[in-house]
Amino acid sequence: MNVLAELQQKGLIRHIGLSKLTPTQIAEARRIVPIICVQNHYKLVHRADDAGIEDLARDGIAYAPFFPLCGFTPLQSAELSDIAASLGATPMQIALAWLLEPSANILLIPGTSSLKHLRENLQAARLQIPSEVLANLNSMGKPEKGF
Ligand SMILES: NC(=O)c1ccc[n+]([C@@H]2O[C@H](COP(=O)([O-])OP(=O)(O)OC[C@H]3O[C@@H](n4cnc5c(N)ncnc54)[C@H](OP(=O)(O)O)[C@@H]3O)[C@@H](O)[C@H]2O)c1
Repeated sequence: MNVLAELQQKGLIRHIGLSKLTPTQIAEARRIVPIICVQNHYKLVHRADDAGIEDLARDGIAYAPFFPLCGFTPLQSAELSDIAASLGATPMQIALAWLLEPSANILLIPGTSSLKHLRENLQAARLQIPSEVLANLNSMGKPEKGF
């Protein structure tokens, strides 16, 4: 981080982001240099960063959840499919809409090689999840320890 801070002071780097770090590592980095974005593994069923995202939002730091749709082993759950069907959406759209719910600092970058999926994923930004459904979704993934 010290080298990156020096490069930033010299004007060679404008902004610095972090990826795959624990809360302790993030706090340590932030003591050295301003951080504008954190990208960590986070999705409906992988919730280690639940508390950390809010802390970052309070300080105006963006958070990009990677593998938002479970990456190489796409998300599959009968419960999620039922919820999606009840809202006239696909499970992937619900998984993305859930990520956008809690905090304005979330930057979503779902990967796709399909134009159809890209369109579906964009529509997820317009989905409103009712609070009782949100509670069911929240209970699907237990927050884990760490960031
Ligand atoms: N910082 C890091 O260490 C790190 C690590 C991993 C990933 N990332 C980043 O995170 C981002 C997302 O990662 P990712 O693309 O690997 O994982 P992802 O977004 O969780 O999942 C992509 C998978 O979901 C499928 N998919 C996407 N939209 C869909 C839809 N509407 N319906 C059904 N299936 C759908 C895709 O298949 P189709 O192609 O068929 O749509 C693909 O198999 C990328 O920008 C990546 O660079 C960062």
